[in-house]
Amino acid sequence: MSSLRTIAPATGRLGVLTPGLGAVASTFMAGVLAARSHGATPIGSLTQMAHIRLGDRDQGRNPLIKDFVPLASLDDIVFGAWDPISPNALEAARTAGVLEDRDLAAISGELEGIVAMDAVFDQSWVSRLTGTRVKTGASKMALAEQLIADIERFRADNACDRLVMVWCASTEAYRDLSEAHQSIEAFEQGLRDSDPAISPSQIYAYAAIMSGVPFANGAPNRSCDPPCMVALAEREGVPVGGKDFKTGQTLMKTILAPGLKARMLGLRGWYSTNILGNRDGEVLDDPENFRSKEVSKLGVIDTILQPEAYPELYGNIDHVVRINYYPPRGDNKEGWDNIDIFGWMGYPMQIKVNFLCRDSILAAPLVLDLALFFDLAARAGEKGVQEWLSFYFKAPMTADPALDAEHDVFIQQIKLKNTLREWMGEEPVTHSEA
Ligand SMILES: NC(=O)c1ccc[n+]([C@@H]2O[C@H](COP(=O)([O-])OP(=O)(O)OC[C@H]3O[C@@H](n4cnc5c(N)ncnc54)[C@H](O)[C@@H]3O)[C@@H](O)[C@H]2O)c1
Repeated sequence: MSSLRTIAPATGRLGVLTPGLGAVASTFMAGVLAARSHGATPIGSLTQMAHIRLGDRDQGRNPLIKDFVPLASLDDIVFGAWDPISPNALEAARTAGVLEDRDLAAISGELEGIVAMDAVFDQSWVSRLTGTRVKTGASKMALAEQLIADIERFRADNACDRLVMVWCASTEAYRDLSEAHQSIEAFEQGLRDSDPAISPSQIYAYAAIMSGVPFANGAPNRSCDPPCMVALAEREGVPVGGKDFKTGQTLMKTILAPGLKARMLGLRGWYSTNILGNRDGEVLDDPENFRSKEVSKLGVIDTILQPEAYPELYGNIDHVVRINYYPPRGDNKEGWDNIDIFGWMGYPMQIKVNFLCRDSILAAPLVLDLALFFDLAARAGEKGVQEWLSFYFKAPMTADPALDAEHDVFIQQIKLKNTLREWMGEEPVTHSEA
């Protein structure tokens, strides 16, 4: 039985704060501004475009999600960001080169007005970038306090009722968690001691949670998934989630792999390679930063295909992922997948996927949806890991760390929509009846 949630109304302004004002963040902001200034269609956004079926099919109830659940309106969004390099969203968009001048012209004044705050940045976590607009402080705790002050200043200056934070900054180097990440007390002591194991993205996550601001992690960094951060989110009553926006190649993987499995076709290997020429590609050219991405990309296939349950079909898979920095392509990534499958009597077959995508065009609507859904979750009284938003992530966090994450994009979509139905007092759709 579904139970109606009490959800506070989406009144007033919603501040969307992005650590990182690069290709993804500026494309997201430009798209929202274009939608509200001259009605550009927000393609790729579930919150703006998708319908949701309610009840049995013969009832014909199929409203837009945005008419069914109380989401903040695009008109009520205010943008804020931190970046150590980009001065404002217009410069960021021009540098990224994702959008053409003809699309930026009408909104250039508004984009220029989104001025980046000085970042908490440490080159030891992103060796390929040199930041100039960077906060300094006596300790990492002092830096966290400066972020908290930024958040409160932004809230007051923009008369925001609510805020959400979506990490759109560079991928940090992969490092194992340390003692400092095991409890809230140890983490706070680590901040005071400037423990080198604490990354900038963890300082942002800490500042967000301590400010009551939901935090969604669009990169593969270990930002809000260490035990200390999950405990903090639970204690402070703040929704968190991540990680790594599910866009190009991994989106394709989580669309194709469930289909192969549904038909009980075997998989022997999946080789994925990419060429990418934007700043993200440059950062990922460093093996330490690529390692974070690799970890988040590699988990996908095993959890969908369940090799332990299907050893003859999926017990021996070679899964390789490569990203190559190739400047001429800019943000227009090209991905190749070679998929070695096998069928009846073990006969081999191959599938080739060549996806010429635009990374930030795919990621921008995800930033919007995450901002609106995390804000909804907070108003619905949710706290801690928001598994129902796994749909948006390459490496979804689970509320119970002992459980495997769900990667199948179709199951993720069912979970997302059924969560909305339940909160609104509607029955979940199981597709077992009419
Ligand atoms: N575009 C996609 O399809 C996609 C998919 C999944 C994940 N991501 C992730 O999203 C993030 C953003 O991607 P992008 O293409 O916009 O990259 P980008 O390089 O264009 O932008 C990242 C920005 O973050 C800034 N930055 C770095 N460290 C920072 C810090 N500590 N604080 C504040 N800002 C900081 C950089 O100066 C840069 O302007 C990357 O981590 C990327 O891996 C992107």
